[in-house]
Amino acid sequence: MKLQEKIGFIGGGKMAEALIKGIVQSGLADSGQIMVVEPVSGRRQELEEAYCVSATANSEDTADCGIIILAVKPQIMDAVLDGLNNFISEKHLVISIAAGITISFIEERLSRGCRVVRVMPNTPALVLEGAAALSGGTRATQEDLEVGDRIFSAVGQCVTMDEKYLDAVTGLSGSGPAYVFSFIEALVDGGVKVGLNRNDAQLLAMQTLLGSVKLAMETGDHPAVLRAMVTSPGGTTIAGLHELEKAGFRAAVMNCVETATNRSKELGKQLKG
Ligand SMILES: NC(=O)c1ccc[n+]([C@@H]2O[C@H](COP(=O)([O-])OP(=O)(O)OC[C@H]3O[C@@H](n4cnc5c(N)ncnc54)[C@H](OP(=O)(O)O)[C@@H]3O)[C@@H](O)[C@H]2O)c1
Repeated sequence: MKLQEKIGFIGGGKMAEALIKGIVQSGLADSGQIMVVEPVSGRRQELEEAYCVSATANSEDTADCGIIILAVKPQIMDAVLDGLNNFISEKHLVISIAAGITISFIEERLSRGCRVVRVMPNTPALVLEGAAALSGGTRATQEDLEVGDRIFSAVGQCVTMDEKYLDAVTGLSGSGPAYVFSFIEALVDGGVKVGLNRNDAQLLAMQTLLGSVKLAMETGDHPAVLRAMVTSPGGTTIAGLHELEKAGFRAAVMNCVETATNRSKELGKQLKG
């Protein structure tokens, strides 16, 4: 079912574009329902041409949008909220995707009682395969959470949880694409080291990841079961896996998620000042 409300994007960058694309392609809203606030005129024109949305430099033009999506960098959020506070009221659902900006930060600055939903998306949303987690603010209703879920499900998959877990989500799926790209690079270099040309190695590495993820998702089998399936006694795979274990691969990945989570907490504290 289509969303009835108009949707206003504050910021017309990469993540906003991914969301616009997903919303329009999935039929969740018509492009005529979407208004983007973006300071750069060339970018406004690009978005208008690509998605038939309206674009403006003036945030007050989104006053009649029931859903406002904050898609600006965290560093400028304070100033942006200051500008929105003139016209945002309890009629608005405000959805923020800014990393580290807490719900209370937004609720305090938009002082006329809007409902707030905070989301942590990731960059695969750009190809409609994002992973996002969302949390509701003090006045957000079940319906607001559902609206958020429908928007982020249009660009991938979405789960709802308490805000206290969003730093962990940042450490896992928010930063996760970078870990995966590092792993792909390492696989490719491994292939090159044993004599494959780089293009072939890259195609094989990427398709291996894509296929393995698809296999895990479609079968629903535990990863350990799927791993055992390709690990024959005395074979090549167990020899390779032994090297990963010796190098502390799993501990390194776990530490990576934990350290990124802690860094997200630190950055969040700095943003609050
Ligand atoms: N990219 C990710 O992986 C990712 C993941 C999770 C969360 N996020 C969050 O998503 C948000 C957007 O990220 P992004 O990657 O889409 O950033 P981005 O591409 O830099 O987009 C931000 C856009 O907002 C515009 N802008 C600046 N000041 C504005 C103002 N006062 N009013 C309206 N628009 C303004 C920027 O224009 P200028 O170019 O002129 O500054 C830019 O087009 C960030 O808060 C980030 O934390 C991103």
